[in-house]
Amino acid sequence: MAKIVGGITTSHVPAVGAAIDMNRTQEDYWKPMFAGYEFSKQWIAKEKPDVAIIIYNDHASYFGMEIMPTFAIGIGDSFEICDEGYGPRPIPVVHGHPELAVHLAASLILDDFDMTVLNVLEVDHGLTVPLSLMYGQPDQWPLKVIPMPINVVMYPQPSGERCLALGKAIRKAVQEFDGDLKVQVWGTGGMSHQIQGARAGLVNTPWDKKFMDDLIDSPEVLQFKPHLEYMIEAGSEGVELIMWLIMRGAMGDKVEEIHRFYHVPASNTAVGHLIVKPKEN
Ligand code: DHB
Ligand code: FE
Repeated sequence: MAKIVGGITTSHVPAVGAAIDMNRTQEDYWKPMFAGYEFSKQWIAKEKPDVAIIIYNDHASYFGMEIMPTFAIGIGDSFEICDEGYGPRPIPVVHGHPELAVHLAASLILDDFDMTVLNVLEVDHGLTVPLSLMYGQPDQWPLKVIPMPINVVMYPQPSGERCLALGKAIRKAVQEFDGDLKVQVWGTGGMSHQIQGARAGLVNTPWDKKFMDDLIDSPEVLQFKPHLEYMIEAGSEGVELIMWLIMRGAMGDKVEEIHRFYHVPASNTAVGHLIVKPKEN
């Protein structure tokens, strides 16, 4: 049987990807931020998950104004790299796990989550920057990835309740998959940030830290936080954090916190990062 063995949340700031690609991680500005991921790189090298289901958002890189699915899943063999404006990052192609992905799509749809099924998908910094943070610059990514793009960039976004419930449905589906796989679920994005307008550069550290506490201990309360609160307290892009709720839902009732990191600034963004393990499998 497949098993959910861990969960990761992390910001996905594109400038972090550029710093890695340009070998600038040890510069004064970046060094303290990358230091927070040293533990994580060692941890995942020992954990050796077979598959990561990566919950992320596309930033109008592959999708756009024409099509923006609320919940989607990539079922292909591989996913090319794309990004907005400055071209794709120089990183390996991402390999999928079609068997588990098709099983997940079927299970989630029959559980009333109307997933858009993507036979073709290119993945942007929302997915690739977390991979680089966890694995550095390998020749090949050492795990398979099932991308799950979530709309957080165009109104209306899915509710927190729906996101937590989607995570729970992912957990059930993975546990029902007939195959001996160690599966992680990652939720990317956040923390507080606003990259445009009069409040560009907004960071709300007390709010972010409380969000991390609540994600660990009381997701059943956190799910009711209205989108307007994310917008007011965590900036116009802070609503990316609803994707962390999907990861949390996939972990079951209780989690053990393995690692926590919080750092300001990285570009316009407060960087937050958690590693958790489900308390029961
Ligand atoms: C930034 C952060 C993001 O999450 C993003 O998608 C784009 C830009 C930033 O802080 O620059
Ligand atoms: Fe983003």
